[in-house]
Amino acid sequence: MTGLFITLEGPEGAGKSTNREYLAERLRAAGVEVVLTREPGGTPLAERIRDVLLAPVDEVMNPDTELLLVFAARAQHLAEVIRPALARGAVVLCDRFTDSTYAYQGGGRGLSLERIATLEAFVQGDLRPDLTLVFDLPIEIGMARASARGRLDRFELEGRVFFDAVRSAFLKRAEADPARYLLVDASQSLDRVQQALDALMPQLLERHRG
Ligand SMILES: Nc1ncnc2c1ncn2[C@@H]1O[C@H](COP(=O)(O)OP(=O)(O)O)[C@@H](O)[C@H]1O
Ligand SMILES: [Mg+2]
Repeated sequence: MTGLFITLEGPEGAGKSTNREYLAERLRAAGVEVVLTREPGGTPLAERIRDVLLAPVDEVMNPDTELLLVFAARAQHLAEVIRPALARGAVVLCDRFTDSTYAYQGGGRGLSLERIATLEAFVQGDLRPDLTLVFDLPIEIGMARASARGRLDRFELEGRVFFDAVRSAFLKRAEADPARYLLVDASQSLDRVQQALDALMPQLLERHRG
């Protein structure tokens, strides 16, 4: 059995959480140990860092502060949850990971991608997701789906230019490495999206068997 690290990426309202649950159900039905987690967060301490990252405050958060907090939370999450789970052969399904850092802090905030890559290597070593599902959809559709959730967090308060840059960054990363990324058209009905995930199952189970 080989641990498998799968990340789900995309903007708010793209269906990451819904489809993470769906994939978990399918994998568990096949007898696989699944660990569901998310970023920023995933441990009590990392969730406290998440609260700091998401809460709107009067003081403008410096983009470098934001970047370092994201990776600080990630270091904790990797040490406490992700690496141990992979070591015992579980499938880890993580809602957002470092691709979101490239998209939000890189694309959205305009921070240098080289600097992000440096921190990625520092915090993760060689660890990269085995598979990244990028749920892509027009910004308005995602916002409409997510708006039912109520109060906006510090990222959701950003404007059109920010979200366009986030979307392009996700697409660019997915296109650059088709072996690691699966681009999912998240504007389709949930049934269609889940058909695409079903098609992935045999390959996932085979990779997990090692
Ligand atoms: N393909 C889809 N078509 C229509 N509604 C969807 C689809 N995928 C998800 N939803 C709905 O959109 C909302 C946001 O989905 P969610 O999984 O929470 O997105 P995310 O975790 O990416 O923010 C939920 O109410 C969910 O039921
Ligand atoms: Mg979600």
